[in-house]
Amino acid sequence: MKKAAVLLFLFAAPLICPPLAAQEAMRSSNSGVYTQAQADRGHQLYAFRCARCHDTGFSGAPRLGDGRFINDFIGKTLFDITDLIHTSMPVDKPGTTPKAEATEIAAYILSVMGATVGANDLPADDDVLRQIRVDLPVMPAGERASR
Ligand code: HEC
Repeated sequence: MKKAAVLLFLFAAPLICPPLAAQEAMRSSNSGVYTQAQADRGHQLYAFRCARCHDTGFSGAPRLGDGRFINDFIGKTLFDITDLIHTSMPVDKPGTTPKAEATEIAAYILSVMGATVGANDLPADDDVLRQIRVDLPVMPAGERASR
């Protein structure tokens, strides 16, 4: 009988724990969630795979740095960005950007937004990415004008 109770607990624990984990506080995209080195790697991937549309506006692609590109994600999570890239970009070859690369590119997008750089790479882990909310960075007025 006791054994059964222990077994029941072992099986039930994973069912109970995920909701608890999900209640962890959301972090802001401005809390240092990526590194400069990662953004640089993401920049290279972006130049190779994305710039032909997103630097030019080709086929109606929103330009990186345009309000729309970033604004569409404000208040969503980094998972939403990486998942969109992973599943539907480039539009002419959807599904060809691995999650790891989508994460590096997301770091680059954060750097273009001016999000604060941190000490650790953004991990290509959906659970972590879901916990990071995309916020507009708060920049000094002078710095914003020079971008
Ligand atoms: C062949 C052109 C093309 C390429 C290459 C391409 N995209 Fe796109 N992308 C688009 C178009 C067009 C849209 C707008 C889709 C829409 O509005 O439904 C878009 C939308 C997006 C969005 C959503 C922007 C928003 O405001 O909602 C993101 C993020 C994005 N692309 C990222 C990427 C990344 C990262 C790559 C490289 C891995 C990439 N795209 C490659 C054409 C392209």
